[in-house]
Amino acid sequence: MDKLRIHGGRPLNGSIAVSGAKNAALPLLAATLLAPGTHTLRNVPDLRDTRTMLKLLQIMGAAWERDGGTVRVDSSRLTGAEAPYDLVKTMRASVLVLGPLLARAGQARVSLPGGCAIGARPIDYHLKGFEALGVVTEMAGGYVEARVQGELRGGTICFDIPSVTATENVLMAAARAKGKTVIQNAAKEPEVGNLIDMLEAMGVRIEGKDSDCLTVTGAAELRPAEISIIPDRIEAGTYLIAAGAAGGSLEVTNCDPSHLTALIEKLRAAGMQIETQADRCTAFCPVNSEGQPCPLRAVNITTMPYPGFPTDLQAQFMALMSRSSGVSIIHETIFENRFMHVAELRRLGAEIAIDGGSAVVTGIPHERLVGAPVMATDLRASASLVVAGLAASGTTEISRIYHLERGYERMAEKLRKVGAAIEQVPED
Ligand code: UD1
Repeated sequence: MDKLRIHGGRPLNGSIAVSGAKNAALPLLAATLLAPGTHTLRNVPDLRDTRTMLKLLQIMGAAWERDGGTVRVDSSRLTGAEAPYDLVKTMRASVLVLGPLLARAGQARVSLPGGCAIGARPIDYHLKGFEALGVVTEMAGGYVEARVQGELRGGTICFDIPSVTATENVLMAAARAKGKTVIQNAAKEPEVGNLIDMLEAMGVRIEGKDSDCLTVTGAAELRPAEISIIPDRIEAGTYLIAAGAAGGSLEVTNCDPSHLTALIEKLRAAGMQIETQADRCTAFCPVNSEGQPCPLRAVNITTMPYPGFPTDLQAQFMALMSRSSGVSIIHETIFENRFMHVAELRRLGAEIAIDGGSAVVTGIPHERLVGAPVMATDLRASASLVVAGLAASGTTEISRIYHLERGYERMAEKLRKVGAAIEQVPED
């Protein structure tokens, strides 16, 4: 296993190109199971999670090939409808094959994902949504066994809170249901919009894109789709935050700034200058009259469903605030246990207190943030340790970086190109 070694305190200057969004690639790859034929997906990031999803598709009988960022999936012949524990335990999003399998094969057996480092994360909304379409579900031996009774028929479902993957799963099942399905309190994340575009390209009619009420008119026959994965707004946001922490001026290209509004507003409130163009953002850090970096102001954030501040950037923003000039309150409302990074950030000297679902971050002067060995606990927590390591003086070594490899394509290489001293080395 490898670890990341960062010699911090160097500003980031130059340009980083963002990859395709992990959280869009996963549902879109799963959606290839819906219609027989060869689907073409462009801008697919090469990540541990996308490889896991491709492995799942292969288990179901689909064949695939990758040519750079283009992945072709031929799902003409499906031979299985089971997602085994071994894969689901490494990636919760494996549960996204449930909807397409029910639509195509009328049944599916998927291991229950169980808890993870950021909370209990049940899948009850997914199951309630399927049941509204005429699916019966039961649990046996740690698996969800789901079966369509008769045929899939349109229904109405209202989620208690908007869930991204539950919205996607129900959309995919509804794509082949007879009649109309209405999803109320649906998630509005851009990744859901990307899936809607793919389903429409396959022949499904969907009204209400980007709103919290989606109406799906299913189609008995679907055709294979050709579609591009949208840019990864969380990867883009992570690099903008990293620039804030390390200093310098960084251009982030191949992104969609309109998906980053909540973050950009907070970075500006903290004192960064952010310029946006159609497909890029440039971040400039404040400097004093002698050209020396100035600390950012403390700002508060509350994580919310899109278009609110994304929970997937909370940990990275906390690392940024740990060296601001003031006290920042960070309120996490999406997941109940998403502060695993706090103990690791404290090892670098950060002053953070947790009070229920809130973290109180007291900014410290930059010389008091000092590198240390730390351990990655989940994907975004790992990214926050990279941000902190880039800002800290001295050396930070991050172990268990397989978490990072789940969601960031060539992160060390991209950061090195803009001046970071970061290398991947074998663990002792
Ligand atoms: C997705 C993203 C993840 C992101 C999260 C919130 C993917 C592959 N993952 O995860 O990166 O952090 O959205 O933006 O897109 N809930 C239930 N029952 C359910 C489903 C969800 O109680 O059946 C709760 C969750 O515990 C959580 C909230 O709903 O409190 C929202 O979670 P959800 O949007 O479902 O997250 P994911 O789709 O798993």
